[in-house]
Amino acid sequence: MTARKMPKGFFWGNSVSSMQTEGAWNIDGKSLSVYDLRPATEKTADWHDAIDEYHRYEEDLDLLKAMNMNMYRIQISWSRVIKDGDGEINPAGLAYYDRLVDGMRQRGIEPMICLYHFDMPAKLAREENGFMSRKVVDDFVSYGEKMLDHFAGRVKYWIVFNEHNLYFTDEAFNIAGYDHGDQSIGDMYQIFHHTMLAHARLSKYAHGKYPDLKFGGMIAYTPVYPATSKPVDVYLARKSNEFLNENLNKLYTTGKYSTEVLAWIKNHGIQADFQAGDADILAGIHTDFLAFSYYRSTTLNADKVPAGEAPNRYLNWGFEHNRFLEESDFGWDIDPLGFRNIITHTYNAYGLPVFPIENGIGCLEKWDGEHEIADDRRIAYHRSHIQAMEDAIFEDGAEVLGYLGWGLIDIPSSHADMEKRYGAVYVNRGNPDLRDMKRVPKKSFYWFKKVFASNGEDL
Ligand code: BG6
Repeated sequence: MTARKMPKGFFWGNSVSSMQTEGAWNIDGKSLSVYDLRPATEKTADWHDAIDEYHRYEEDLDLLKAMNMNMYRIQISWSRVIKDGDGEINPAGLAYYDRLVDGMRQRGIEPMICLYHFDMPAKLAREENGFMSRKVVDDFVSYGEKMLDHFAGRVKYWIVFNEHNLYFTDEAFNIAGYDHGDQSIGDMYQIFHHTMLAHARLSKYAHGKYPDLKFGGMIAYTPVYPATSKPVDVYLARKSNEFLNENLNKLYTTGKYSTEVLAWIKNHGIQADFQAGDADILAGIHTDFLAFSYYRSTTLNADKVPAGEAPNRYLNWGFEHNRFLEESDFGWDIDPLGFRNIITHTYNAYGLPVFPIENGIGCLEKWDGEHEIADDRRIAYHRSHIQAMEDAIFEDGAEVLGYLGWGLIDIPSSHADMEKRYGAVYVNRGNPDLRDMKRVPKKSFYWFKKVFASNGEDL
């Protein structure tokens, strides 16, 4: 294994969403988001407390700094800063992000802001059906413009939608504030199209007014492998990649849908609120880098795919474990070479800097209240993925801006499960027992610290 140093200015850091960190769901004028209304289940807590970073951000920023990080990707909670998503600015809510951003900058940590990570203001979900509505697109753009105006002098790196390609799958009905409807394919395409318009409008606004900002597209990149070399497996895996991954990167870089996707829409008579003028809006997209989350690859078996289904619905079936890969505690295939492959592929195909802004492994871990947690599996995961990224940079010639781990201070998983942990720092809370939320460095904390101090050389 060759030791290699990253270029000067390479970013190393952490990445989170607001509902998975902040807590403080009903104070300082915050209005409700759809997450605030989700009840606890037998296995999980509600979303009201998360890891209480709202009150503990100084301590958390100190921990990130102690790990030698120089970037932290956060999300602004729309319902915290704008009353009900379409009302007045909430100064006390906005002040929290001022404190957070200033706290980062004081510590030499570059902020990256994401504007939307699935937490639609509850009123807009209920009254407008979330991103099904063009009014919500306008409300969102107005919120985004206000945030750009407020933070542009202090925050250079921006993402609009977390994992934007998920709006082009059945996940759209969970993450876009979709409150009522029959979850038809037309509705899914409409939601996706509306989010693309919002992204395009904000990227144009940002570049027109603040040319120094760096604006990224972001997808959940789970590359799809064919289960065998049977042509039908290869065909459907390629098609699935086209709909889920390439379509987005084509939109970000050219402002045009993939021709294969357009052909599918036409041939199937999909009604998705494509209006005159939309093509011009999309043509205004400006993208500086292509970001993605990467946790795993997946494998598609054509025998398990029902005939005639939309390619972006394949994710609901057809998938199986890749027998050549080891699985995490939660059944996700571990595939560092897949990471190298998509970095290199994305750079080859689109020629823009690539930015993995979420990577990590969810593990089951218990703390005995005394001894350090020896999370060797997490160290092995990140070591192999950073090594793979370095291979993409030094051997394949890809340009990469940085590497952000996901939830490197423990946070509840996307299913509100505190037992699925990604952190290098243990947070002492459970489901639903909040305990004292003490932050306790694990073994990987010290490993990250030296890796980041050596700019990726000492793995
Ligand atoms: C990403 C999401 O897809 O994956 C996060 O942006 C999520 O919100 C992360 O937490 C890890 O997934 P999970 O389900 O293990 O929490």
